[in-house]
Order: sequence, then structure tokens, then C-alpha cells
Amino acid sequence: MSVENSIENISTILVIGAGTMGRQIAMSAALAGFSTIIQDISQEGLTAARTELEGWAASRVAKGKLEQGAATAALDALSYSTDLDSAAANADFVIEAATERLDIKTAIFEKLGVLAPAHAILATNSSTLGSSKVAAATGRPTQVCNMHFFNPALVMKCVEVVRHEETSDETVATTMELARRLGKEPVLINREIPGFIANRLVGAIQREALFLADSGIASIEDIDTTARTALGHPMGPFALMDMVGLDVIDFIAQATHAETGADTDAPNQRVAALVAEGKLGRKSGAGFYDYK
Ligand code: 3HC
Repeated sequence: MSVENSIENISTILVIGAGTMGRQIAMSAALAGFSTIIQDISQEGLTAARTELEGWAASRVAKGKLEQGAATAALDALSYSTDLDSAAANADFVIEAATERLDIKTAIFEKLGVLAPAHAILATNSSTLGSSKVAAATGRPTQVCNMHFFNPALVMKCVEVVRHEETSDETVATTMELARRLGKEPVLINREIPGFIANRLVGAIQREALFLADSGIASIEDIDTTARTALGHPMGPFALMDMVGLDVIDFIAQATHAETGADTDAPNQRVAALVAEGKLGRKSGAGFYDYK
């Protein structure tokens, strides 16, 4: 393994995007002892992330699940920046969790290719865009891969590491090891495929759940109850879609359908209608369920 690309070489992690995923990925890295920068173009987004993470740490301490010293150390290890140029210059490993738009991601990866140190691995948390789509823009495609976390990222153990055709073995090994150091259980996906593993599995369940509800076979409540009580799922498919965000669910379906053209991947009209009404799930106060 090349020394430059190895886990020993990683002390500073840059997470791009302070949204739902980015902020919790960053906190996972800070808790694991990495100096971690959260970068976002929005100062408001950074402030909201800081407030949530400080609140989360305080509640963990209050519950007796985190030592005060560890909480303070993790919060101290986090820094917040709107300036991608200086943040990238200090990063040994980058996890991009910005908006799921190819033009935005391509511009970010192009910048990272110029600004990040030569040894830095450039990973994307994208669930819909394989890293091959941004790899060429970096000028270092062998050091690019997907590192896909799950919501809520401070809790869920899985990280999908997805290699594209040019991703090197060293990049894969270092990314998998980094995930382990963050307390995760990484899985490797050897070839890009829409949805990777988890979203393909959950997509099949969601599709069937929507079919049952749309056909009037059962209520969303009873479908969710069945997933919990018959299958042992922590939450039913409708509650899960509300947690992930119906806009995200709709976007994933659109992106997957555009790539595969398969009827089974087509966006669901009921989900699209809820999104059009501004019902995005928990974050907007209503989705399939009412949270107000
Ligand atoms: N942020 C941080 N921590 C959270 C949290 C959040 N948003 N929600 C819950 N937690 C923590 C709680 O603090 C609690 O921690 P503790 O047990 O150590 O005190 C723990 O999770 C359990 O929480 P609760 O007791 O409140 O509730 P549950 O037992 O129902 O667990 C859950 C909540 C972890 C969300 C669980 O319901 C679950 O695992 N649901 C399935 C989640 C899932 O499938 N995620 C994948 C979504 S798909 C995705 O992300 C892919 C993307 O590409 C779209």
C-alpha cells in the first residue's frame, strides 16, 4: 500500500455540506479523534449544524452515554468554515455531502483536485451519483470513491464504499479502514449500480408498501405495523420515508429511473404529490404522517 494514501496519513477530515448527513458524519469523525472541518456555503447551515451537534452531545452526556471529556474533545475537534479553498488545503480525507446535483458536485470535485493535498482521498456520500461521474474532474480518479452513510449517521453502522473502474485498491482499503475507525461496519460494492445495496433493498420494500397502500389493500399504519411486528424492522417503510425526507425519496426514484428506465424504478405519484404540497416528512412537520 502506498504510504501516502494510508490511514496513518489521515489526521484532518473535511466534510462538505452541513445538512442532515454532513453534520452527523462530521461528528462521527470528531468523536473518533479526527480534526474535522465542516464546510458549507451557508453560514446559517453551519450555525444550525453547530446547534444540533452541541445539543446532541449535551443530551448524550445527560443520558450517561458519553463522557463529558469525550464530548468536549469532539466539539473542540470540529471547526466550521464557509471557505472551501482553505478547508480543502488542510484535508487528508474529504467526504462530500453537498446537494445531490451533478453540476454542484462536479464543481466541488474539480476544486478539490486542485486544492486538496496530493495524498488526499476524495469521497462522496452521494446515494445516487456514482463517483465515476466526478472522478475525472479531480485529475486523481484513483483516489475517488463513494463513501455512503445512512440516516441518522451518528447511529447507523453501515457505510457503503463503492469503487468505480479506476478507484485504486489503496483508496478502497483506506476508506474502509476510516469507516471502521468511525465505528462503522463498511461494506464494499465492487461496481457502480444505481441504489448500491441498501437503497435497492429498501426501494423494493417501499415500492411494495406503496403498491399495497395505493391499491387500498391496507392502511399505511397497518403496513408499517406489519414491517415492525412481523419482520422486526425498527420502523415501517412509510415512517422511514418520512424520516429520510419525501423529497429525497422522490429524487432518488427520479435519478434511478433516469438511469435504468425500468418501470419498477419510476417515481411514485403519491410521493410526488406530497412533495408538491410541501409535505416532505418529519422535517416539514407532515408527510405520510402528521408530526405537528
Ligand atoms: N440523530 C442522532 N441520533 C438519533 C437520531 C437522530 N436523528 N434518532 C435517534 N437517535 C438515537 C437516539 O438518541 C437513541 O440513542 P441511544 O439508544 O444510544 O440513547 C437511538 O438512536 C435510538 O433512538 P430512539 O430510542 O429514539 O428510537 P428508535 O429505537 O426507534 O431508533 C432509529 C431510531 C435509529 C432511527 C431506528 O428507528 C432505525 O434504525 N430506523 C431505521 C433507519 C434507517 O433505515 N435508516 C436508513 C435510511 S436510508 C438512507 O439513509 C439512505 C440515504 O441515501 C437516503
